[in-house]
Amino acid sequence: MQIVRDSIALREMVSAWRGAGERVALMPTMGALHAGHMALVEAAKARADRVIASIFVNPLQFGHGEDLERYPRQEEADLALLEQHDCDGVWLPDASDFYPDNFATTVTVAGVSERWDGAMRPGHFAGVATVVNKLLIAVQPDVALFGEKDFQQLTVIRRMAIDLGLPVEIIGVPTVRDADGLALSSRNAYLSADERERALALPRALEEARAAIESGEHILVSTLLAVARAKLVEAGFTTVDYLALIDGATLDPLDRARGEMRLIAAATIGSTRLIDNVRVGMATVSR
Ligand code: PAJ
Repeated sequence: MQIVRDSIALREMVSAWRGAGERVALMPTMGALHAGHMALVEAAKARADRVIASIFVNPLQFGHGEDLERYPRQEEADLALLEQHDCDGVWLPDASDFYPDNFATTVTVAGVSERWDGAMRPGHFAGVATVVNKLLIAVQPDVALFGEKDFQQLTVIRRMAIDLGLPVEIIGVPTVRDADGLALSSRNAYLSADERERALALPRALEEARAAIESGEHILVSTLLAVARAKLVEAGFTTVDYLALIDGATLDPLDRARGEMRLIAAATIGSTRLIDNVRVGMATVSR
């Protein structure tokens, strides 16, 4: 596994592969890697000859008062895990190299960036779109992989790739969960044992609401969502930023089940904000 830190070394590594006619996949991360990230590596291997992971805690996507400083950094363990999964290259850009002095360019994706996490975290998706764009320009991969865990992020990146005509295939990878159902996340490291236990209410509430909607129970969606929200509060979540049934393509809220949907939620337990979502699939339900 080759480890590169500057853009010149990155270019040399990638052009050698390209010269040999190999397909290249990129998997952007912020490190603190876990089995969810490794699912992206495996999905990448199925679609390309060479897999590059980038590890970069992108300051641009953290708002004031968010967890940029305390975000977990564990380079050695990350490299060991990537090595174990036969990743071919790792790019660890340096912030000062990555964002030149007087950096002034931002990529904003209107529409799908605006609701949900976009409304709660102003500037967050512009920070994501900008960094992902720069990573894609630097690596020029054939394929780039992103997790459905961050469903709105995946939707924003797909929109950006289409709108800018980026010559890359964007692949979404299903969410990897712990055996008890909690979605794996680097931020789970912030949870105490007690919070970790209580946090299970999040996937459970989404799963119950999903099952109720898919079974076509004659309950209003708004009632189901209110029940799910109450369960989170009961379990000890202090803030529920949103808990909604949305259209899987536009991310607009739905008040009745139709087509391809997602149930999405963001809620805080202790000092940790968790997000999760599940797919809800059914043709039609009349209410
Ligand atoms: P990070 O949170 O490190 O996640 C990197 C990638 O792994 C993202 O595409 C994310 O959706 C995916 N991922 C995280 N947890 C997952 C899980 N449990 N199952 C499946 N995939 C999972 O998301 C970011 O970093 C950043 O915003 C980034 C895209 C790197 C831009 O800075």
